[in-house]
Amino acid sequence: MSTSLITNIGELTTNVGSPDGDCLGTLHDAAVLIDGGRIAWVGFAADAPDAAREADDIIDAGGRAVIPGFVDSHSHLVFGGDRAAEFEARMAGQKYAAGGIRSTVAATRAASDDELRERLRGFMRELLAQGTTTVEIKSGYGLSVTDEERLVTLAAEVTPEVTFLGAHVVPAEYADRADEYVDLVTGPMLDACAPHSRWIDVFCETGAFSVEQSRRVLEAGVAKGLMPRVHASQLGPGDGVRLAVELGAASIDHGTYLTDDDIEALAVSDTVLTLLPGVEFSTRQPYPDARRLIDAGVTVALACDTNPGSSFTSSIPFCIAIAVRDMGMTPAEAVWAATAGGARALRRDDVGVIAVGARADLVLLSAPTRIHLAYRPGVPLVDQVWKDGVAVAVLAAPATISGTENHGSLAR
Ligand code: NIG
Ligand code: FE
Repeated sequence: MSTSLITNIGELTTNVGSPDGDCLGTLHDAAVLIDGGRIAWVGFAADAPDAAREADDIIDAGGRAVIPGFVDSHSHLVFGGDRAAEFEARMAGQKYAAGGIRSTVAATRAASDDELRERLRGFMRELLAQGTTTVEIKSGYGLSVTDEERLVTLAAEVTPEVTFLGAHVVPAEYADRADEYVDLVTGPMLDACAPHSRWIDVFCETGAFSVEQSRRVLEAGVAKGLMPRVHASQLGPGDGVRLAVELGAASIDHGTYLTDDDIEALAVSDTVLTLLPGVEFSTRQPYPDARRLIDAGVTVALACDTNPGSSFTSSIPFCIAIAVRDMGMTPAEAVWAATAGGARALRRDDVGVIAVGARADLVLLSAPTRIHLAYRPGVPLVDQVWKDGVAVAVLAAPATISGTENHGSLAR
C-alpha cells in the first residue's frame, strides 16, 4: 500500500474537537499521513513521524485549507428527464407542489438502465469534483416494484448509502387508492428493494403520505432490517418530526416549517435535522432559521437534495454559502454540518472526520481558510479531492442532461 503525506496545511479541519471548545478541531501548520485508504497520522507538520517524512507521495498544501470530504446525506440521483420548465414557471410565481414528482416518474420509467446509469455516473463525477466523497441516494422515481428495484440496484452500484423511497408519492395508477399503494410499498416492493438498501424513507406530507401511512412504511422497513429516515415539514407543519423522533430515525430532512414542539423534541433526540437550502432556494420558500435550531440544541446536517424538482444543485459549497448568508449559521457550523453532520445523519463514524483510522476522504481548498466556502460563493474552490486515499481528478464535468429528453410540463 502506498502512503501519502499532505503537509504545510495552513488550516486543517479535523472535526475532532470538544463541544465546549472548537468542535471543528482546527489545527494550523498541520499535516496528514494517508496509508492504504485510511488516515494513519494527523498533527502539527513539525511533529510528523519518520513514516510521514518517508511517504511515497508528499503533497505541499502551500498553507491552504484542508477539510474532510463532504458527506451529502440526502440526494435523489437516479432519474430521467429534467423539469426546467417547472422551475421557470416557479420563478414566474407558480408554487412548488409534490405532484411534480409524477412527471419525473414517467421520464424515469421510460429511461433504460444504461441511460440512468450513465447519468448517475455523471452526477457522481460532478459531486466528487465539488468535494463530496460520501453520498446517500434515494429511489422514489420508479414507484412500481420493477422500477424501484431498478433504481436501488443502480444506486447500490455507486454508494453503500442507498435509501428505499417507494413512498415518495402515490403514483397516478393508484390515484384515490393510497392505502393500496402503501400495501404494495410495504409488501412486494419492500421485499424487492430491501436487499439493495440500507435505509427506509417516506415523504410524510400533505399531498404525499399521512402520518399513519408513513408509520406503516417505516415500521415495515425496520422489520426488514432497514433504518428509518423521513422527509417531513417541507411544505407545511405536520406530524412527521414527531414520528421520526418516536421511531428513532437517523434524520428528519427538510424541516422548513417546524413548530416549537418539533424543535424541543429534536433537541433531546438522536435524530439529526438535515437542512436542504437548495430546496428553499429553488422553490422560493422561506429559509429555516438554523441559528435558532442550533441554539436550541438540535444537531443539524446540510445536504443538497439533488433532484430535478425541488433542488437541482449538487454543490455543497453552494448550500454552505446559503446556510451562512441566509440561515444564520457561522461558516464553521456550516462546514461541520456538511461533513460531520452528514456523517451523523448517516450514522457513520468513519467519514466526516480527519482522524486516525477514518477513511482518507479529504478536500484541499484553493483558499487559506474554510470561511472562503461561504465568503466566495459560486467560485470553484475545490482544488484536490482524495477518496479512500486516492487523489481523484476534479476537472469539472457536469452530468450530461440531453437536449432530447423530457424537460417537464406545467401540467400536474
Ligand atoms: O426531497 N420532498 C420530496 N422529494 C423531493 C422532491 C422531489 C421532486 O420534486 O421531484 C425533495 O424535495
Ligand atoms: Fe428529498
